Amino acid sequence: MTDAVRLEREGNIAVVTIDNPPVNAGSIAVRQGLIAAFGKVAGDKTVIGVVLIGAGRTFVAGSDIREFGKPLADPQLPAVIAAIEECPKPVIVAIHGAALGGGYELALGCDIRIATPDAKLGLPEVTLGMIPGAGGTVRLPRIVDPAEALDIVVTGKRVPAPEALKLGMIDAVTTGDLRAAAIELARSPATVKRRLRDLPVRNGDPARFETAAEAAAKRNLGRKPVEEAIAALRRARALPFGEALAQERAAFQELRQGDEAAALRHLFFAEREAARIDGVTPDVAIDVRRIAVIGAGTMGAGIAAACLAAGYETRLIDIDAASLARGTARIADIAAQDVAKGRITADAAAERAKRLIASTKLADAADCDLAIEAVIEDMAIKRRVFGELDAILLGHAILASNTSYLDLDVIAAATKRPESVVGLHFFSPANVMRLLEIVRGAKTGTPALATALAVAKKLGKLPVVAHVGEGFIGNRIYSAYRRECEIMVEDGAAPAEIDVALTGYGFKMGPFAVWDMSGLDIAWHTRQRLIAEGKAPARALPLLDRLYEAGRLGRKTGGGWYDHPAGTPSPIVAAMIDERRRERGVTTAPIPAETIIARVLDAMTTEAEAVLKDGIAARASDIDLVMVNGYGFPAHKGGPMFQAALERR
Ligand code: COA
Repeated sequence: MTDAVRLEREGNIAVVTIDNPPVNAGSIAVRQGLIAAFGKVAGDKTVIGVVLIGAGRTFVAGSDIREFGKPLADPQLPAVIAAIEECPKPVIVAIHGAALGGGYELALGCDIRIATPDAKLGLPEVTLGMIPGAGGTVRLPRIVDPAEALDIVVTGKRVPAPEALKLGMIDAVTTGDLRAAAIELARSPATVKRRLRDLPVRNGDPARFETAAEAAAKRNLGRKPVEEAIAALRRARALPFGEALAQERAAFQELRQGDEAAALRHLFFAEREAARIDGVTPDVAIDVRRIAVIGAGTMGAGIAAACLAAGYETRLIDIDAASLARGTARIADIAAQDVAKGRITADAAAERAKRLIASTKLADAADCDLAIEAVIEDMAIKRRVFGELDAILLGHAILASNTSYLDLDVIAAATKRPESVVGLHFFSPANVMRLLEIVRGAKTGTPALATALAVAKKLGKLPVVAHVGEGFIGNRIYSAYRRECEIMVEDGAAPAEIDVALTGYGFKMGPFAVWDMSGLDIAWHTRQRLIAEGKAPARALPLLDRLYEAGRLGRKTGGGWYDHPAGTPSPIVAAMIDERRRERGVTTAPIPAETIIARVLDAMTTEAEAVLKDGIAARASDIDLVMVNGYGFPAHKGGPMFQAALERR
């Protein structure tokens, strides 16, 4: 064995324990240990059955993602699974925590799968730019309806044990002691060897499979891992087991070494890195149980809904009763949608509702550990709210602002506890978007920062820490990106050409379509403010102002850069663009899509370098996380900084 795998005896049962903290990732040491353990029990006549289990907080979180960037060392996972299948004794796998990717493939190599009720199972390889490479696509449709198997593989979803049981992914859910239950099962005379490779692929409804395949391909247009996953599941049915397995492995190996997989691995580790801040340890965080959200607008209601969903006692406060009523209704609506989509039970929704207190009095925030202000972006109003909160809240409480551009230090100065003031910049809709910029003011103390990080984790958010500066990380880079797009319009590209080039690259929406959705007035007001503050860039780009002055504010006024509701290019805007180009007196020419993409990436990375130099962001990977999770940058490209590094290579 290796240190990572232990072999113990419980009478005539062998217990193989994987112990590779923190999450039992299937590293080379684990694979070597498993080969040795199964080699030993296979020939041991005193053993009648085997239990495979994980030590610590989880079964096996997956293959060790750190090994995927290099050539894989032998023995590889398929060899381990083959050893389990060749072991003549029945192998019971006992799953708690997570069995994902290679972890679940390992489980599929065993004869019986049992799990605790809170276990999660899945094949998330596609989300890492690959497909399962150790039989996931070949064994799964032998126990799960092929259309469901396809859904599991192409979405990479993590299936909770009770649902996994219904689907056939596991054989039983056990509420008692997992290890004891597995040993009992291994001893049962009824337990026999049942290798999935010997079973036929389940019949299922071929039409359902085809519909699911088409929908998945359409949703993920041109994404190679999705195409390959669908092809692998088709082969599972069409080819003999061994051949399907070999072809799955070949596709996995090719994808594993590709740029898309490297990009998604980069983001995986970037997420974990983002929560590590020099000098900030989790133990200094204060214990937050009650959260007050001040301001019941769209943002405040969304934040309150997120707090409720995470289990916090929540106060929603707005001095305007009508606004409070709308906010409360919005929260109820969010919970109702969660019930309708099967995400939570009606009982859970009722329990959530009980934890909400809506009030028009700020004094009702008095016993909260954290107050999150989400009132309008007006410095005087925010300062007043902070001053009042400071007077009301207990000494230990943290005060947070959801401001997206105001100077947090000025807000903090309205209190006597600037060390307890932090920015929590949520993205809209706040109950859905994962990104959370945590803004560290000049005086923000480590307890406030550690608390913000802990709350973010509990809310299920992805926190990225930024320092104070216009637009923090995301809005600042996004502004530079949009500016470059406006310049390209003056230089000869139509808004629709730019949007098409960027959605072709993988952005969910192009910048002009986004502008029309969020409203040109927001951009116009920001621009006016920057001009007033003397912070506007030297080269004026008047087209947006002209659209604004013509009442073209976007979808809400029936027209912006495009005509709405159709969203078609506007002849009026085209004429305005022509006039602007004539005015500038320079010759314009169409801009090819590759150039549009290159110019956008260049604008983003140039601004990102400045963000790093100014100390607003701590690391390049934080910038990638922000742009991918808050601004629609395609995840499979890894973010602008990852792309820039690729190009330099
Ligand atoms: N390979 C290598 N390292 C892994 C890993 C993997 N498959 N899964 C997790 N880790 C590491 C993390 O990088 C982190 O390391 P760090 O402490 O040095 O930052 C540590 O294990 C803990 O992971 P974290 O995600 O912070 O723990 P968690 O308790 O919040 O979540 C999981 C546990 C299993 C849900 C989560 O780690 C996860 O989703 N892992 C990836 C699963 C996956 O995609 N597997 C398929 C691989 S093909």
